[in-house]
Amino acid sequence: MRIRRTLSPTAAPLGFADLWRGLKGFFVGERYLRRLKEEITGYFGVRHAWFTSSGKAALYVILRALRSLRPDRTEVLIPAYTCFSVPSAIVRAGLEVALCDVDSSSFDFDGALLGKSINEKTLCVVPSHLFGIPSSMESIMGICRERAVFVLEDAAQAMGVRRGGKMLGTIGDVGFFSLGRGKPVTCGSGGIIVTNSDAIGRAVDRELSSLPLPGKARQAREYVKVAVMNLFIRPRLYSLPASLPFLHLGRTVFDTRFPVMRFSPMQAGLCATWRRRLETAASVRREQAGMLWRALDSARIAGDPLSAGYLRLPFMTESRERGQMICSTARERGLGITRMYPSPINEIPQIAHRFAGMAFPSARLVADRLVTLPLHRYVRDGDRDEMARLLRPARRVVTEDRALGVDMAVPGVAGRERV
Ligand SMILES: Cc1ncc(COP(=O)(O)O)c(C=O)c1O
Repeated sequence: MRIRRTLSPTAAPLGFADLWRGLKGFFVGERYLRRLKEEITGYFGVRHAWFTSSGKAALYVILRALRSLRPDRTEVLIPAYTCFSVPSAIVRAGLEVALCDVDSSSFDFDGALLGKSINEKTLCVVPSHLFGIPSSMESIMGICRERAVFVLEDAAQAMGVRRGGKMLGTIGDVGFFSLGRGKPVTCGSGGIIVTNSDAIGRAVDRELSSLPLPGKARQAREYVKVAVMNLFIRPRLYSLPASLPFLHLGRTVFDTRFPVMRFSPMQAGLCATWRRRLETAASVRREQAGMLWRALDSARIAGDPLSAGYLRLPFMTESRERGQMICSTARERGLGITRMYPSPINEIPQIAHRFAGMAFPSARLVADRLVTLPLHRYVRDGDRDEMARLLRPARRVVTEDRALGVDMAVPGVAGRERV
């Protein structure tokens, strides 16, 4: 194994002071928890906020709470291309996954299909704001209000992003954020639930009251994991964990056996400076995204930098093969370009039987062609140049030079069609 400078796909590192506060959290964590709750409700302008062991645990708790309010409804409608944790939490909550195809230029629900995909069993609709690209909340809310269906915002990748002056995660009936690795702000793992609805708030309270608090030994293990990963996220060291397959870095799996617990005082300590970290990292990513937007064929980038608070830059390649080639070259060069979820949700083997005979062509296209580029603070000018060269297709075009007997391969002239 060769140790070489390697970018991670995402990075939101903690400082020594954060790690120190995490340690203090073991002893005075209740204070950190109280302050965190006050800060989150104030920053997001919500009446209620709670903390869980992970984003998927937050989603599980919300789904159970919504089910207790509408026991006759059993289906949860999600985009056919999203994180595998989402169907994992739905199945764990004893509910059924229903799918709507996506718009391949934003990963939002295909607006023409959403209304038709809701039926009398639909409990809630879950827009995803993938990569920090806002879903069209106004139209989703309109469609769901008419049908008395809850809107549960999955803002796992979009903490701190606004749409029309409102914070994503707070526009629907209830929302959640993830504090997991690779998210806008992290403490290793964690989830935040937010809502302005008192009825949902009471139901979430009931669900949370029965959850265990992680024991000291689990908290200590988590702490060590965070501290070690925080060290190895740096480009000089990242090639080490990236080369260890058993760490499953960046792998997304369907697994319903995840822990569902409360947020620990240690995690609250690690999050003490969340707001500064969130805003600083967002401004770095915004700047990086703007530079890449100008350097790449922007028609192939999903969303746009004016409305998206990109977590990674989603780039649609010309074909599955080209996407694979880009990722394998990027791996050799340590550029941190990776594919995202390996398949649409309907092809996850454990739940595929539910979708036999159904097709989700745009989700399939995205799974095939999407690659994502890192935007974090370790990305340098030279890295961006190299990414731009790698993503710029070489296409043979006939130019005037043909007259001179020269057939030129001109980089960067691929079609600007909307993908
Ligand atoms: C869109 C989306 N939803 C939900 C989750 C689950 O969050 P967590 O990893 O904190 O359980 C993730 C995280 O990967 C995600 O990206």
